[in-house]
Amino acid sequence: MNNLLANKNGLIFGALDENSIAWKVAEKCHQEGANLILTNAPIALRMGKIDVLSRKCKSEVIPADVTSLDDLENLFTKSKEIFDGKIDFILHSVGMSPNVRKNRNYGDLNYDWFLKTLDISGISFHKIMQVNEKLDSMNEWGSIVGLSYIAAQKTFPFYSDMAEAKSVLESVTRSYGYRLGKMKNIRVNTISQSPTKTTAGKGIKAFESFYKFADKMSPLGNASAEDCANYCVFLFSDLSRKITMQNLYHDGGFSNTGISEEIIDNFN
Ligand SMILES: NC(=O)c1ccc[n+]([C@@H]2O[C@H](COP(=O)([O-])OP(=O)(O)OC[C@H]3O[C@@H](n4cnc5c(N)ncnc54)[C@H](O)[C@@H]3O)[C@@H](O)[C@H]2O)c1
Repeated sequence: MNNLLANKNGLIFGALDENSIAWKVAEKCHQEGANLILTNAPIALRMGKIDVLSRKCKSEVIPADVTSLDDLENLFTKSKEIFDGKIDFILHSVGMSPNVRKNRNYGDLNYDWFLKTLDISGISFHKIMQVNEKLDSMNEWGSIVGLSYIAAQKTFPFYSDMAEAKSVLESVTRSYGYRLGKMKNIRVNTISQSPTKTTAGKGIKAFESFYKFADKMSPLGNASAEDCANYCVFLFSDLSRKITMQNLYHDGGFSNTGISEEIIDNFN
C-alpha cells in the first residue's frame, strides 16, 4: 500500500458482486487510503452483495438509478454531507442493454430498448457530470473515469447496441472533459478494458470465445479486473494530473495487434 489516495473522497458506481470491475476498484481505492461512497441501482442493491463490500471498505451505500436526475441529485447532495466535503474522484462502471439481455439481434432491435441502452450506458455519464457541475460537488484537480470497450472503434458481432452506447460514452468524455478541464482542472477519461469475466461481460453472446480470442491476440494477455483497478488508482491519484479527454486502452496490446502467432497456429 502506497497511500496514493489518502485524504481523497471517491464515488463508485456499479459494484454488483465480487466479479464486478467496480468492486475491485473499490477494494484497491480503500487500500490506498480513499474514503468511499458506493452506489448502484435500487434493484441491484437488493439482488447484489454490495453490503459485503461496504463493510470491507467502511463506506456508505446510496441507491441511484443512473438514468434518474432526481436520484443523482440526491446522491451528490448526500455524498457531500457524508464526506463533509467535496468529491475527488468518480468511477462510472455501468452498462446494460435490454436488447442484448433479451437476445434481440442487431437487425431487429427494439428502439425503446435501444434508447434505454444509450441512456444507462452512455448518456448517464453526461448526467452524472451535469448534476456534479450544477451542485458544485467536485474539488479542483478531480478525476472522472468511465469504462469502455473497443467495440466503439471496431465492430464485434453480438456486442449489438452497446457499441453505440460506448461511442456516446467516449464522445461525452471528450466534450465534458474539455468543459470541466477549463472550469476546474477536472480530468475525464475512459478506460477501454479487455473482456473481463463479470455479470455484464458474460451477458454478451459468445463471450467465452471473445475472451479467449482477445487473450491469444494480446502480447500481454487480457487485463484482469484487478489490473483495471490498479489503473483506476493511478488515474484517480495525483500522478495522472495532465491526462484528460482520452480513451485509454487497457487491453494487453490487443488494440494494436493485427494478428498473433497463437491465432495463426489455430489455422494450421
Ligand atoms: N466485462 C467486460 O468484458 C467489460 C469490458 C470492457 C468494458 N466493460 C464495462 O465495464 C463496466 C462495468 O461492467 P462489469 O463488467 O464490471 O459488469 P457488472 O455487471 O458487474 O457491472 C455493471 C453494473 O451496471 C449497473 N447498472 C445497470 N443498470 C444500472 C442503472 N440503471 N443505474 C445504475 N447502475 C446500473 C449494474 O447494477 C452493475 O453493477 C460496464 O460499463 C461495462 O460495459 C466491461
